[in-house]
Amino acid sequence: MRIAVLGSGTIGTALVRAALSSGHRVIGTGRSERTLERVKSLGAEATRNNEEAIASSELVVVSVKPQHFPEMVSSVSSDLWIGRTVVSVMAGVRLETLRRIMRGAEVFRAMPNVNSTVGKSATALTGEGERRGEVDSLFRTVGVTYWVQEELMDVWTALVGSGPAFVSELVDGLVLGAVASGMSRELAYSAVLDMLEGTIANLRAHRGHPLELRDNVTTPAGTTIAGLKVMERRLVKSAMMETIEAASRRAARLGKVIDEKISREISERK
Ligand SMILES: NC(=O)c1ccc[n+]([C@@H]2O[C@H](COP(=O)([O-])OP(=O)(O)OC[C@H]3O[C@@H](n4cnc5c(N)ncnc54)[C@H](OP(=O)(O)O)[C@@H]3O)[C@@H](O)[C@H]2O)c1
Repeated sequence: MRIAVLGSGTIGTALVRAALSSGHRVIGTGRSERTLERVKSLGAEATRNNEEAIASSELVVVSVKPQHFPEMVSSVSSDLWIGRTVVSVMAGVRLETLRRIMRGAEVFRAMPNVNSTVGKSATALTGEGERRGEVDSLFRTVGVTYWVQEELMDVWTALVGSGPAFVSELVDGLVLGAVASGMSRELAYSAVLDMLEGTIANLRAHRGHPLELRDNVTTPAGTTIAGLKVMERRLVKSAMMETIEAASRRAARLGKVIDEKISREISERK
């Protein structure tokens, strides 16, 4: 299949690389010479001309920032969208808006995360159409996929999109705690990452509630319970719940603002 990636930045580049590795022919677009050179160095075709990329592809991925979308879409003849399959990875831009702008196209939304750069994204997909299977395959090349209702995209953005930042923050806390207890930062960082990988493997293997694993390692009057008491006193779990709720509310608010702005800008440009 021939795939166009409109906007070959962080996420776009990961998708270009993944699509190439699955044997697809890929054309990536960008504005700067640097972006185009990066796409070419991966072995894909590169162009500034979005129309050329769309016209020659069956599947089109839109991976520009939402604020650049009105300008990008205005430079494309509306007829070009007819019969194409389009997947938008833009945060917040709703299917209904995309369908209104790209009339005649089969439209999907995808919400990958930054882990797509290492082939480990958990990507939410939503939308309906004949090429659902191909869309799924494309995103499986950068990790795992979940088909969800569009209403869940905001909480997905908070949990899985912002999740790597929240986990990085926790990792830093664990490392600093070890440094404060006398371990070198380098050793602590490496140990924390290995411990996390092992914990994930363990949780996946047991498939039960995460608290079963917690209780397995909690000896009476031991080390773990001493640490857990602090977590309890400092309301760590409550803070995590509020973190996701706040990020989810923010994703919904930003999505609404972005979506309305795009609709307004597109109608002004007509
Ligand atoms: N980063 C994430 O973790 C993440 C996660 C989920 C979803 N997303 C979504 O993915 C999209 C891209 O995010 P990103 O982080 O990859 O952004 P990014 O690195 O800034 O990439 C955006 C790319 O779009 C290109 N571009 C801008 N206007 C263009 C135009 N008119 N024609 C062709 N290319 C154009 C830019 O090219 P130049 O640099 O050459 O100008 C840049 O390479 C966003 O909509 C975001 O909401 C991102």
